Amino acid sequence: MTEPSAARKKPFLYVVVCACGIAADVGELITAAQERHWDVGVIATPQGLGFLDTEAIRTQTGYPIRSAWRAPGEARPLPPADAIAVAPASFNTINKWAAGISDTLALGILCEAYGMGVPIAVLPHMNAAQTAHPAYRQSLERLRGMNILIGSGEPHPPKSGGGADPFRWQEALDLLEPQLGHRPDRGRRGTP
Ligand SMILES: Cc1cc2nc3c(=O)[nH]c(=O)nc-3n(C[C@H](O)[C@H](O)[C@H](O)COP(=O)(O)O)c2cc1C
Repeated sequence: MTEPSAARKKPFLYVVVCACGIAADVGELITAAQERHWDVGVIATPQGLGFLDTEAIRTQTGYPIRSAWRAPGEARPLPPADAIAVAPASFNTINKWAAGISDTLALGILCEAYGMGVPIAVLPHMNAAQTAHPAYRQSLERLRGMNILIGSGEPHPPKSGGGADPFRWQEALDLLEPQLGHRPDRGRRGTP
């Protein structure tokens, strides 16, 4: 017998936000995801937190932003993720994630989510002087080898204050949704 659709839970999206100038606009991704029937929780890097309106995001998502590790014994503040969007993704976090460094909650979640098979899309936001560093190319290669879905955005010129084109927040959803097979009742996979 088929479950009534009203009883189905929406898939849960973690949005990992890094310390990029454009981070303040992450509400655009949250709105788009909610319109496309996701529930959303935000995890910010400690530096990224300073770019965000934490109260606005709590109101929009219904969850507090996570940024620090929880205390031992404390309940997990967010449901487990069905998918993760890293948007915007900084040069720093991409390189650390690819290297397996886990010194922020955001990185801890990303490093473990791979082993748990949670689909992840990453939308880098950085300038061409950063992408020129050889470590960055190697990081992307490693992430591709881990089946991480990488957005098509181009780097902006150094010292330009950002890209000329609008940041394509929804590309994260476009990349992730085929991974879920359009099954909103899909079983959840755990994250830390
Ligand atoms: C106003 C401002 C805008 C920034 N924008 C970017 C950016 O778009 N991309 C990036 O990789 N770093 C950017 N940075 C540098 C990062 O904030 C810095 O590398 C930080 O350590 C990244 O931390 P996280 O990866 O833990 O979020 C910016 C810094 C400032 C102050």
